[in-house]
Amino acid sequence: MQKIVNLQLAYLRKRKGITQQALAEIVGTSYQNISKWENGITMPDITMLPVLSDYFDVTTDQLLGLTAIQENVYLEEKTDTDEFWNEKLSFLIRQEEISRNDDYFEFLIKNVWKINEPIDVLDLGCGYGYIGLSLLKYLPKGSTYTGVDFSENLLQYGKKLFQENQLPVTFIQEDLFNYKTKKKYDIALCQGVFRHYGTSEAILKKMYELTKKGGLILSMDINREIELDGIYIDGMDYDKLCSRNGCRRHWLAEYKNGDRDYAAAMRSAHRMYQLGIKNIEVRLNDKVSFFSPDQTDYDKNISNMMEFNALWYKESEQEVIERLMNHGMTRREALSYYQRGQEINDFLKNNPKATVTWLRGKLITFGRK
Ligand SMILES: C[S@@+](CC[C@H](N)C(=O)[O-])C[C@H]1O[C@@H](n2cnc3c(N)ncnc32)[C@H](O)[C@@H]1O
Repeated sequence: MQKIVNLQLAYLRKRKGITQQALAEIVGTSYQNISKWENGITMPDITMLPVLSDYFDVTTDQLLGLTAIQENVYLEEKTDTDEFWNEKLSFLIRQEEISRNDDYFEFLIKNVWKINEPIDVLDLGCGYGYIGLSLLKYLPKGSTYTGVDFSENLLQYGKKLFQENQLPVTFIQEDLFNYKTKKKYDIALCQGVFRHYGTSEAILKKMYELTKKGGLILSMDINREIELDGIYIDGMDYDKLCSRNGCRRHWLAEYKNGDRDYAAAMRSAHRMYQLGIKNIEVRLNDKVSFFSPDQTDYDKNISNMMEFNALWYKESEQEVIERLMNHGMTRREALSYYQRGQEINDFLKNNPKATVTWLRGKLITFGRK
């Protein structure tokens, strides 16, 4: 049974700058008791809880560590900085490998967008330009790809990759909001960027500004609600796998604080419509992964899936719980979310031949200027 209560006495006492002896005198007990409570050797009597919470001006839930002490302090994720993305090259490479079927792009280019002439493509927040590599495979010869990103590391890797594949590319290291050019593009696209901003409006406006009249504006993003329901591990209770464990509260806290948008994908078409973009369509990326132990990449794919779904962590349990609580979860929810991850990890360790289906819920939204 996991410990739910995590008495915050030591933290609150130190924050107030008083000694154990002083606190003992104020609340009418011995400093030995205070020390035992702080070290988790014993717990204060239930009648002591209102006395302590009154003194520290916190709720009893906060005193017991059931909700975050800095209740109204939301700690931003800060996934909209180049420092954050400079460290994410390996993450992005691994993610791209399992996130789509290239042949679906071929289908979109030839059958849906009906592109028969060379075109100019602009990718805002391009990372290392993986989408460009896929698109150039199927676009008519003479087409160009320009990627804008503020991450130096990602662009450096991208340049190498395009060189190796002998493909032309223009990479521009710049904050996409500051990117200015007289040139207008046939396609302005953006993948995986809307999610990291509280609203996609400003990015869409930039895309609109940089697209030719009649050109295509294209966004591709994951919807977290669908993604969370999209894991099936044979032999595990599916109901447990789909449980939210406070995730929704976490996502809403991010969204309400204008930090990140868990449902950016679902909102894209609506924001495009409000901007006056025409002929809007939404499609679902057709990639659904199936992992079985006879596949050579099985272990790698399973560990990627766990990482991308935040089901295992490099941080300690305590750090994870604190972080989740600072994003709106109660301690109970944070613990149950953490435990769910642990249970999945344990199940996969004990069942090294388990088969897995993983649907990510990436929406492809597009319209014409
Ligand atoms: C989730 S990654 C997606 C990368 C790429 N679009 C892909 O799908 O592989 C988000 C990317 O957006 C970039 N980014 C985020 N905000 C940006 C901004 N304001 N200006 C330029 N690049 C930005 C990051 O550096 C990162 O490469």
